[in-house]
Amino acid sequence: MKDAVEVAVEAALAAGKIQRERSQNIGRISSKGSHDLVTEVDILCEQEVIRIIKKRFPGHQFLAEESGASQGASSPSKWIIDPLDGTINYAHGFPCYCVSIGLEHEGEIIVGVVYNPNLDELFVAEKGKGATLNSKSISVSTIPKLKDSLLVTGFTPEVIHSLDDNMGAFRNFMKASQALRRPGSAAIDLCYTAMGRFEGFWELKLNSWDVAAGFLIMQEAGGQVTKLDGNPLSVYDREILASNGLVHDEMVDILGKE
Ligand code: IPD
Ligand code: CA
Ligand code: CA
Repeated sequence: MKDAVEVAVEAALAAGKIQRERSQNIGRISSKGSHDLVTEVDILCEQEVIRIIKKRFPGHQFLAEESGASQGASSPSKWIIDPLDGTINYAHGFPCYCVSIGLEHEGEIIVGVVYNPNLDELFVAEKGKGATLNSKSISVSTIPKLKDSLLVTGFTPEVIHSLDDNMGAFRNFMKASQALRRPGSAAIDLCYTAMGRFEGFWELKLNSWDVAAGFLIMQEAGGQVTKLDGNPLSVYDREILASNGLVHDEMVDILGKE
């Protein structure tokens, strides 16, 4: 597994370098739908991440946001990649975005790497070996009550067009917590919860590439990650509730009200 972690880190740093170098020159921006963009940098980063990983693991499967699922490979190992999480931030020059790389093996996420090039923050987790930020061990916060918690959420393009638009939960959590943020990168939201900057994160209609790496980073940092109702979560579920564990039940209760 050491090899896989090293390759994931190499690929994440390479994509982060592209994001940094191209931040003033993001090239053509296309729209995947209203509220949903893709830039040349998303594509370049994805190609670079897949190229680096394929060189070492040519038989593995890939599931990447912009190119989809690889065809043909039958390996039990699958790399789940968001080449640029926070594209709308990137397109506006708002410095909150990252690259997120998870490795699933026989249905379990065993490696997670998230790199934020703006702060040069590299989050790494390996199944059973803990989670780190720039090589230092991280763990979730110890704040026990929701009223003293800083929470975070997001709104996918899909949710904006849905009746279930997260606004009810947003309102309820705003009143029940100390404060609520919406920075715009689900992978960073998960990592910040894992290292104790936030106490809890929830979001609806996410995709596996948004959460694969952050899911493991959260778990290895001692956090709790479930569906909104507190039941066990797979990264293919389209909702997530992640917390320091201590405020989890309070969050499940509030989410149940909507
Ligand atoms: C988005 C970000 C955002 C979240 C959206 C995602 P993208 O990913 O993670 O925080 O609210 O749900 O789609 O499109 O920038 O990779
Ligand atoms: Ca994303
Ligand atoms: Ca993306």
